[in-house]
Amino acid sequence: MTEETPRYAVVTGANKGIGFEICRQLANSGVRVVLTSRDEKRGLEAVETLRRETGVSEQTLVFHQLDVTDPASITSLAQFVKAQFGKLDILINNAGVSGVIIDIDAIRAGKEKRVDSTSLEARRTDGLAHSKRNGVSARRLETRV
Ligand SMILES: NC(=O)c1ccc[n+]([C@@H]2O[C@H](COP(=O)([O-])OP(=O)(O)OC[C@H]3O[C@@H](n4cnc5c(N)ncnc54)[C@H](OP(=O)(O)O)[C@@H]3O)[C@@H](O)[C@H]2O)c1
Repeated sequence: MTEETPRYAVVTGANKGIGFEICRQLANSGVRVVLTSRDEKRGLEAVETLRRETGVSEQTLVFHQLDVTDPASITSLAQFVKAQFGKLDILINNAGVSGVIIDIDAIRAGKEKRVDSTSLEARRTDGLAHSKRNGVSARRLETRV
């Protein structure tokens, strides 16, 4: 009887929570799992815990550092997977990062403008004068302010 070709999985943010549980279930199903974590110590501890709890082999469950916001860390993991397995069958992109870059300074600046009623009133007055000169209705202008 021929041995089944192994399947390989990477789980991001897997040192705890849902990612950790997904690693357990994949490993128990015979998938070879790379448990990744941004913090090496937490990741290695998680691997040790899972190996102890499931009894899976060192080959079945391995650790690799991965911070999903760090391009160098992503490249390092990709090279590891390529060199060790030559392919990846399952990617569980679990780490809770939205990918949205928030410009806090711009948000704060916008808020300050909105609460500055003097400048808002000045813009309205300017606008009304402009509308009278150009025949634009005041209602349309209000929506623009
Ligand atoms: N739990 C829920 O009810 C629920 C509901 C809807 C969606 N989700 C989504 O499911 C995912 C997992 O949820 P969870 O409850 O298991 O969350 P969790 O317990 O907070 O675990 C999040 C994991 O992501 C890791 N992580 C955070 N930032 C990272 C980064 N930059 N690079 C790599 N890893 C990073 C954390 O590492 P550290 O330990 O180093 O912080 C941790 O291991 C999240 O994406 C969450 O938004 C969860």
